[in-house]
Amino acid sequence: MTQLHGKTAVITGAGSGIGAAIARLYASEGANLFLLDVDKAQVDAVAVECSSTGVTAVARRVDVMESDDVRAAMDAAAELLGGIDILVSSAGILDETPFLELSPEVYDRTMNVDLRGVFLAARWAAPHMVKRGGGRIINISSQLGIKGGTGLAHYVAAKAGVIGLTKALALELAPHSILVNAIAPGPIFTPLIEGLSDEWKAAKQAELPVGRFGTPEEVAPTALLLASSPGGNLYTGQTLGPNSGDVMP
Ligand SMILES: NC(=O)c1ccc[n+]([C@@H]2O[C@H](COP(=O)([O-])OP(=O)(O)OC[C@H]3O[C@@H](n4cnc5c(N)ncnc54)[C@H](O)[C@@H]3O)[C@@H](O)[C@H]2O)c1
Repeated sequence: MTQLHGKTAVITGAGSGIGAAIARLYASEGANLFLLDVDKAQVDAVAVECSSTGVTAVARRVDVMESDDVRAAMDAAAELLGGIDILVSSAGILDETPFLELSPEVYDRTMNVDLRGVFLAARWAAPHMVKRGGGRIINISSQLGIKGGTGLAHYVAAKAGVIGLTKALALELAPHSILVNAIAPGPIFTPLIEGLSDEWKAAKQAELPVGRFGTPEEVAPTALLLASSPGGNLYTGQTLGPNSGDVMP
């Protein structure tokens, strides 16, 4: 029996990188999927790939900054799939800007996607989980939200916020049998970090005890653990760190 057989999952940022790898792994474990991304062509392609394993996989263009869109997507997912068991918030953006050059606009945009987007997805998915008698919320943070990083104050602030939000929701939603956890990956080879400077990447790699960046396929199994039962049953309010040893809390 596959680990997520009969479960339904909504994944934001499912068109690329870590979100896409989680979608593929969840599909291979039998979950029916509602995949959201601002890039419709990319998320369509991931949905086609996932469907080929025999599960239902629907793609929808959603900007996680837009409350009405996120709410409509969660309602549509619950209706089409019969409910929402699992939410993974992976949509995110990052750009490297020294703090002394950081504009309020770039700060706000990063907070809106990387933190408000996580809030909105949980806010509009959780009522469906309450109706179903339980669920799992998995928020993708970053190890930078724990240890900080130069040129990334806006991103670090958002990712630290995701960890705080995760703890608060874990406490408040526990009576509804909803378990809420975060994953704080180390540097992972995806389009997200392609734009960072070579100096930043070289310095980062030198800091890692494991000595290399990871791949999305090395992060996705942590999201499977948190979604699964019995494996994930005792985790809530936690931040798991597939991070090449970058942070050792
Ligand atoms: N790659 C890393 O090194 C790394 C490390 C730690 C944490 N993370 C986090 O992992 C998550 C996934 O990142 P990734 O590395 O897979 O990047 P990625 O760029 O490959 O994927 C991010 C996806 O989010 C989508 N997206 C961006 N803005 C959106 C919006 N407003 N609404 C909906 N979708 C939107 C993009 O279209 C893209 O498909 C992010 O939250 C990121 O911060 C990444």
